[in-house]
Amino acid sequence: MRIVVTGGSGDLGGRVVRELMSRGHAAVPASRRSGVDLSTGDGLDAVLDGADAVIHAATSQSKPQSVEVAGARRIGDSLRRLGSTAHVVSISIVGSDRVPYAYYRAKVDAEQALEQAGVPATVVRATQFHSLAAFFGTAGRVGPVTFSIGHMRIQPVDIDWVAQRLADHATGPAPSAFRWATDLAGPTAYTADDLAERLAKHDGRTTPRILRIPPVLPVMRGFAEGGILPGPEAEIGGRTFEDWLGDQPTPMPRRFHSPT
Ligand SMILES: NC(=O)c1ccc[n+]([C@@H]2O[C@H](COP(=O)([O-])OP(=O)(O)OC[C@H]3O[C@@H](n4cnc5c(N)ncnc54)[C@H](OP(=O)(O)O)[C@@H]3O)[C@@H](O)[C@H]2O)c1
Repeated sequence: MRIVVTGGSGDLGGRVVRELMSRGHAAVPASRRSGVDLSTGDGLDAVLDGADAVIHAATSQSKPQSVEVAGARRIGDSLRRLGSTAHVVSISIVGSDRVPYAYYRAKVDAEQALEQAGVPATVVRATQFHSLAAFFGTAGRVGPVTFSIGHMRIQPVDIDWVAQRLADHATGPAPSAFRWATDLAGPTAYTADDLAERLAKHDGRTTPRILRIPPVLPVMRGFAEGGILPGPEAEIGGRTFEDWLGDQPTPMPRRFHSPT
């Protein structure tokens, strides 16, 4: 199959491209560095022409409305213009409809844009990747102290497994219209204390003390009250946070994306 991967140069998209290629498919990365700009539509018709499926994994933390939302709309418009019935598989975030955070709002808007696009489409929501959980656990550390929003918990997931499940959806039977896939989550939920302890052990440091910030703002309450945790119906899979961490460099870099 010829499968276009928006954001194919990114952390998730790059893994999706490699996964599809390892299964013998023609995976075509589509992002600005390959001449496709979702915020303008430049290059989109050309790359989507002849596609059997599209995996929409492009994102912009600073401009999610133009990349994820307008991008989803533009993908739908382009496929209709081309007379294509390619199946669009789009990645979203568990709890994006429960936490009033601007980036999450854009994820919900992108889901709706796809639902209204009138093309065969599947939205897959996943929890935070292990790298983001590690980032939460390291970025807030100041000397012997780290922070938590109240008693917030997070149930992070293995990005490689998410890439595999997106590839499964794109290469499997396509729906005739819009559908929701089962949410994806990792095996275990962690508090900030759990993450701090595991990260400190990985780095050979003393476990920092947790300073709890009272969840005074609605967005903080959304996180603190379990808004990003998966429901009981979620599909659980992939490596645990501990297994993933075991493959990471020591000390764990304070960065958003997984180094491996
Ligand atoms: N991180 C998490 O914990 C997590 C959890 C669940 C779901 N997700 C979702 O997973 C997806 C991928 O996240 P990620 O962390 O892998 O992203 P990422 O590494 O930041 O990659 C973003 C990609 O988007 C492309 N892009 C940015 N602006 C673009 C534009 N104007 N036109 C076309 N492409 C553009 C970038 O390529 P160029 O720079 O070449 O344009 C890059 O390939 C996102 O939808 C995110 O919401 C993430």
